[in-house]
Amino acid sequence: MERKPRVTIVGSINMDLVTITSQVPQVGETLFGEQFHMNPGGKGANQAVAAARLGAHVQLIGCVGTDTFGKELVVHLEKQGVDVTNVEPVTGSTGTASITVAEGDNSIIVVPAANYRVTADFVESKRDVIANSDILVLQLEIPLEAVEKAVEIAHANNVKVILNPAPIQELTAELISKVDYITPNEHEQLLLKQTHKEQELAGKLIVTKGSQGVTITKAGQEIQIPAYKVDVVDTTGAGDSFNGGLACALVRGLDLEEACRFGNAVGALSTTKLGAQSGMPTAEEVVAFIQNQA
Ligand code: RIB
Repeated sequence: MERKPRVTIVGSINMDLVTITSQVPQVGETLFGEQFHMNPGGKGANQAVAAARLGAHVQLIGCVGTDTFGKELVVHLEKQGVDVTNVEPVTGSTGTASITVAEGDNSIIVVPAANYRVTADFVESKRDVIANSDILVLQLEIPLEAVEKAVEIAHANNVKVILNPAPIQELTAELISKVDYITPNEHEQLLLKQTHKEQELAGKLIVTKGSQGVTITKAGQEIQIPAYKVDVVDTTGAGDSFNGGLACALVRGLDLEEACRFGNAVGALSTTKLGAQSGMPTAEEVVAFIQNQA
C-alpha cells in the first residue's frame, strides 16, 4: 500500500462565529443580519482538514480550551481524519473568530485564547512529530516563538516548511532563511517586501491573489498561475485550503507550478459552500474538477 505523506501542521484551532449580512455596519450602527452559524475554523485546523480530506496523514499540533468549543472541535477534527494526538486541552477558552460575511467577502476578528498557549516549550515537546514529517505547515495565529521553534526543528531534520504569514507580523531573516515557501496574500506580501531584502525572499514567495490566482517567481521571472472560476458562496478558509492543497501536492512530488495549480483548485472548490471547511474537496473531486476545466 502507498505510504500516506505525513503533513504536520502547527497552528490555531478556532470556533468561527459567522454572521451573514447584506451590509457591514458602520461604527455606532446596529443592523439586522440574515443568518448566524458556528463553524469549525482556525487557520491551522483549516489547513489540517484540507490536507486530511486530500488523503494525507495529518498531525495537528495545537491547543484548545477546556470549554465546550474545545471539546466539540477535537471531536470534529478527529471525524475529519486529522490525527489529534498532539492537540492538548488547556484551562480556559478556545480560540474564536467573529466573522462577518457580506456578498461572499469576509472580515474577521480573532481572539486567540488557547492558541497562545502553544509556546516554544510546547512545540519542543513535539520535536519527534515534526522531525518525522514530510512537510511542516505553519501560520501566525500562535506565538511567533512557537513558529520559530517548529521551523528550527524542521530545518535541522530536512523537513520542508511552508509558512503562511497570516495574520502578518514582522519576521526575522533567520526564520525566513529556514523556510522553503512563504504564502502571503497581496497585502501580507507588501509588508514582507518592505521589511526584507529581495534575496532573502528569492524563490520562496507564492503570492495568493484570490480570483487572480497565484504568482510565483522562477529564475527571476514572475509566473502567474490563474485561479479557477466557481460560484463563490464564502471565501473564508480559501487561503487555508490552498495551503493544505499545496502541501499535499508538494509531498506527492508535483513541481511548484503544478502544486500551485492543484492548490488553486482546492481553494476554489472550498469557496462553493458556507464555512471555512465545508467545501474542502477530496483528491478525487479535485482531479475531476481540473479535468472538467480542460
Ligand atoms: O483563514 C480563515 C480563518 O481565519 C477562519 O477560520 C478563522 O478562524 C480565522 O482564523
